[in-house]
Order: sequence, then C-alpha cells, then structure tokens
Amino acid sequence: MNTPSGRAVPRCPPLLTLECVGHSFDGGHIVVLRDVSLELAPGEGLAIEGPSGGGKTTLLGLMAGLDRPSCGRVRFDGQDVPDAAAWTRLRAARIGIVFQDYALVPTLTAVENVELAMFGQVPGTAQRRRRARERLAEVGVADCAARRPAELSGGERRRVGIARALANAPALLLADEPTANLDSVSAAATIELLLRLHAERGMALVVVSHDRGLLGRFTRRLRLADGQLGPAGEP
Ligand SMILES: Nc1ncnc2c1ncn2[C@@H]1O[C@H](COP(=O)(O)OP(=O)(O)O)[C@@H](O)[C@H]1O
Ligand SMILES: [Mg+2]
Repeated sequence: MNTPSGRAVPRCPPLLTLECVGHSFDGGHIVVLRDVSLELAPGEGLAIEGPSGGGKTTLLGLMAGLDRPSCGRVRFDGQDVPDAAAWTRLRAARIGIVFQDYALVPTLTAVENVELAMFGQVPGTAQRRRRARERLAEVGVADCAARRPAELSGGERRRVGIARALANAPALLLADEPTANLDSVSAAATIELLLRLHAERGMALVVVSHDRGLLGRFTRRLRLADGQLGPAGEP
C-alpha cells in the first residue's frame, strides 16, 4: 500500500493464515478438509457454519496447532510454526480455546482450572490466583470460584471455560459450538459475553456453530461443507 506521497506503508500480516490446507484421518481414508485457504486479520471476527461431521472441530484444531494438516500450511503472525513445541508455546501465550465439551479438570475448582492455564506464563501463586479471580469476574462467575465443575450449571461451566481461555490475554480466541447444550437464556448470554470480550479486548474471534442466533451476529461468515470453505447462506 502507498501513501499519497508514494511512501510504502508496511502492512500488518494476518494473524492466522491457512494455505491450501487438507486433512484426512485413517491413513487418508477419511478426507475431512480439502484445499482450505483463509486469512484472519488481527482483531477480526469470523463465524463458520456447517453440517455435523463436516470438519469444523478438525479445522479449529488445525488453527490451534492441536493437529498438523495432512497437507498445506497454517501460519501464525505471518510465520510458519516449526513444530509441536512451538504450537504449545503459542497456545499457552496467544491462543485461547473454548472446547465444546468444556474440558475442565473435574477435581479442580473453577479458579484452579483457570490458574492451571497460567503455569509457565504468570509467575507466583498469589499473582496467578488474583488474575484467575479477575478472569472469572470478567465473565460473570466470580461467585463460582470455589466450586468444582460438577457443582456448576452448563452456562457456568461455559463461562469458566471462557475465563480459562482468556487466562493469558490471547490474540486469538477459538470457540467450538459455544452455545451447544445450553438453555436459550444461557446461550444468549454466552453470545453476548463472547462478542463483548471480542470488542473490548480487540482479540480475533473464530466461532464454529450451528446456532443461527450466534452466526447472525458476525459480518464475516463462511460455510464448511464437503471439506471446503465457501460463502455462508443467510443465518
Ligand atoms: N481422530 C479422528 N480419527 C478419525 N476420524 C475422525 C477423527 N476426528 C474426526 N474424525 C472424523 O472427521 C469428520 C469431521 O469431524 P469433526 O471435525 O468433528 O466435524 P464437526 O465438528 O463439523 O462435527 C467426521 O467424519 C469424524 O468422524
Ligand atoms: Mg464439532
């Protein structure tokens, strides 16, 4: 890009880039993704819809480096991520994941679940505890801090999962069907929470979902079907 004076302005690289990504399981017998390309700018929001079994969770896993693509490349901040250890460091510091099934540790309290994500990132027990409490308060479940997952409602678990994903102030939040299995009131509150955090924190947000109420809140929407990304229909 050039200014009126003709001086080149360096462009910010995309936060996340998928380049011709393909993925298969079972030695290539189950082909889930074919030739998926995508760029996500820093702070951008994106919703991906698609049929069950269409590869949405697989795609999020590749965006987070939980799995490596069978072919093609996934870049973060314009850089190739060399190996699994580098992806682990990125997930610890820059990528938050909200798992569909919550993935909370059942023997730990809510505040301990959030603290767990801070080990190696935030020094000191007291500081981790203070920050974990702040995160729980930010998502509206400060009063759940001392309860274990089995003592929380689905909506509360979802919020604790979001607090944990925010533990280290990620640049990218990935949310897998964040309103699934929630009653309509909790689902609506979760949508508002995610969008508020996205706006206030300026972090990029990718959600995969079937939920029309959630999909309709994003200006950028794509559909994953037959292993390929294309334009989404009206929500
Ligand atoms: N680890 C795996 N091994 C074999 N097949 C898998 C694995 N993970 C997912 N699949 C298959 O890949 C397809 C896409 O799954 P998934 O990404 O979970 O879809 P979605 O999230 O859209 O429902 C499904 O057919 C599923 O059975
Ligand atoms: Mg899924």
